[in-house]
Amino acid sequence: MNSRSSAQEHLLERANNVMGATLGAFKLPDDQAIVVSHAKGSKIYDVDGREYIDYLLGSGPMLIGHAHPVVVEAVRRQVERGSTYYTLNEPVIELAERIVEAVPCAEEVRFVSTGTEATFHAMRIARAYTGKPKILKFEGGFHGVNDYAMMSAHANRQTAYPTPIPDSAGIPREVEADVLISRWNDVELTRSIVEEHANSLAAIICEPLQRSLIPAPGFLAALREISRQNGVLLIFDEVVTGFRLAYGGAQEHYGVVPDIATFGKAVSGGYPLAAIAASHDIMAVTVPAKRGDLPIAHMGGTLNGNPVSAVAGLATLEVLRGEGVYDRLYGTTEQIKGGLRELLSERGIAADVSGDGPLFQVFFTDSTVTDWPGVLASDRAKSRRFGLLCVERGLFLNPGEKFYVSLAHDVADVERTLDVFEDALDALN
Ligand SMILES: Cc1ncc(COP(=O)(O)O)c(C=O)c1O
Repeated sequence: MNSRSSAQEHLLERANNVMGATLGAFKLPDDQAIVVSHAKGSKIYDVDGREYIDYLLGSGPMLIGHAHPVVVEAVRRQVERGSTYYTLNEPVIELAERIVEAVPCAEEVRFVSTGTEATFHAMRIARAYTGKPKILKFEGGFHGVNDYAMMSAHANRQTAYPTPIPDSAGIPREVEADVLISRWNDVELTRSIVEEHANSLAAIICEPLQRSLIPAPGFLAALREISRQNGVLLIFDEVVTGFRLAYGGAQEHYGVVPDIATFGKAVSGGYPLAAIAASHDIMAVTVPAKRGDLPIAHMGGTLNGNPVSAVAGLATLEVLRGEGVYDRLYGTTEQIKGGLRELLSERGIAADVSGDGPLFQVFFTDSTVTDWPGVLASDRAKSRRFGLLCVERGLFLNPGEKFYVSLAHDVADVERTLDVFEDALDALN
């Protein structure tokens, strides 16, 4: 169904000529591709003025909705004062203080521009701190696109644990040797890999909510215990979960405190900024005066601590601290998930609607998905088809992947969304 104007077709053709028609991994099929004109609240609009209810939320950052007036005003005031300084500024100091107040593992914060950089530096800091080279990550866990992260994140086959499957061409073979893979929610396998490699293992990194897969009861606590017992650091990649599952992130929500945490997306309200948080002791490896003769874990970046991103982050956190905000985020999401489950069961369609907090995902399967082999066993082509049918009917999302819900989604959005789901499920069958 292609109702695009010739003007939009022309923009897509120009994008195809000079950008491969994509900004990265997210790409709708050619007949559904759009060029965005603007976004406001829970809605996003293409250049023809077609409105979509947005469940992509810029891949997660727009947790309080697009162009929130508080954020817009803060940014407007800051840009008049200059866009970037490459040095300390008041907004970024205040943002670091807000993160330290909110996040249990945080005594200090370092700023970078993307989640990819944040996980890269968290792993580097862990190596410098422990003096050991290896990182253990989980099959199906995504930590951005740095070489260490792009291992068994979305392979089409099950990993032969602990040997990683690289997710990209161009990654040096040597990197593979320093990454170990375990199975999400499998305590015993993880314990045995960690114990076997304890002498060379610097850190375990995980998304505490892996994509939409909830940690089994006790799993994160077991990771905490296994890492402590083996002299290994625990890194929570909270780029998605930070300030989303709770104001204090997944570590508050699930009650397990890691050694290092990474933040991105919601923490800067849609502007480029990400953060690494840890104790004074761990962060000392980045400080020359505290390292003596040892080399520091080097950090740097032209836009680190950018004041425009920092004020957008501060304004976003201010909104998130409001009364009842998380109840609303959870409540809206539960209404959508509950409605979807009903529609699925009325039609006798076997599916697992997974997720926690204001995000969810639909797997077509007759089991509960708890790990990557479970994802592989589900009908992923059907999930993607369902997503594409939703896009065709006016929802904006990454077909087959997570739906992100914002504070701006309201009752009318929920009703319209469930109508779309109903229609899409009927078209699917
Ligand atoms: C859990 C997680 N970590 C890291 C990243 C990478 O962040 P960025 O895209 O800002 O590099 C992402 C991006 O989706 C993510 O979901």
